[in-house]
Amino acid sequence: MKPLLEAVGITKEFRGRGRSLDVTALDGVDFSIMPGEVVGIVGESGSGKSTLSRILVGIEKATSGVVNHNDKAVETPADWRALRFDVQYIFQDPYLSLAPHMSVGQSIGDGLEIRGEGTPKERANRVAKTLEMVGLKASDAQSYPAVFSGGQRQRISLARALVLNPKVIICDEIVSGLDVSVQAQILNLLVELHRDQGVGIVFVSHDLRVVKYLCQRILVMHRGLIVETNTTENLFSNPQHEYTKHLLSCVPAGLSPSGI
Ligand SMILES: Nc1ncnc2c1ncn2[C@@H]1O[C@H](COP(=O)(O)OP(=O)(O)OP(=O)(O)O)[C@@H](O)[C@H]1O
Ligand SMILES: [Mg+2]
Repeated sequence: MKPLLEAVGITKEFRGRGRSLDVTALDGVDFSIMPGEVVGIVGESGSGKSTLSRILVGIEKATSGVVNHNDKAVETPADWRALRFDVQYIFQDPYLSLAPHMSVGQSIGDGLEIRGEGTPKERANRVAKTLEMVGLKASDAQSYPAVFSGGQRQRISLARALVLNPKVIICDEIVSGLDVSVQAQILNLLVELHRDQGVGIVFVSHDLRVVKYLCQRILVMHRGLIVETNTTENLFSNPQHEYTKHLLSCVPAGLSPSGI
């Protein structure tokens, strides 16, 4: 089996402005995800997790390195569009990622409309089904983001991605701003999506307990490098890198996210 999405030798330099120095956010990183796989990316703040995940969908451009989609280098705008048919990125902050002046139905149906998929009625039906899939009501399509809680908005963001039937969703800290019990609900939703529909997931988090619960394989990032990658089981039972050992030593023993 070939990776659905792959990144090879990715570097990213951010140019400093004024007095701030240049930052090497990524320093030669390789990544891959097989169809239907659930991969975690962990590491402390500033280690490059978001930069890598944004490069994987083309929101950010790598300074050097290649992204491959279905074994082919992604180069042209048409290649990136094709990649986004398969790979959807979900932002951490649902308050920022939903347009306040658009109804939930419009926000979710927007991508379908841009792609010219289906009639307005067919699109409305798909929006309704997707809202139910993420645990909301079909009638919520008429409401505006302001009336929903943080957890509900994150469900709406998920619906926006899922309505497009992606093969992989990249979830960048999508539960970190939420109450622990709401976190558990969203995580369980991701588990169901993977189990029932085979959706692959890249799950970015600094909470190792959450990543352990969800992911089959884990990449550990530290200062722009992937210092270790292993199956979840091996990583926890036999960590190789000093930084991984350090991260594991910070996890309270026996604890799992509340409610799961
Ligand atoms: N647009 C930008 N301009 C300048 N520097 C940036 C930019 N985006 C990220 N960086 C820098 O790149 C490095 C990696 O940042 P990144 O956001 O990828 O880390 P992260 O692992 O996602 O952190 P967090 O856990 O806080 O979300 C950091 O030093 C950050 O300050
Ligand atoms: Mg980040």
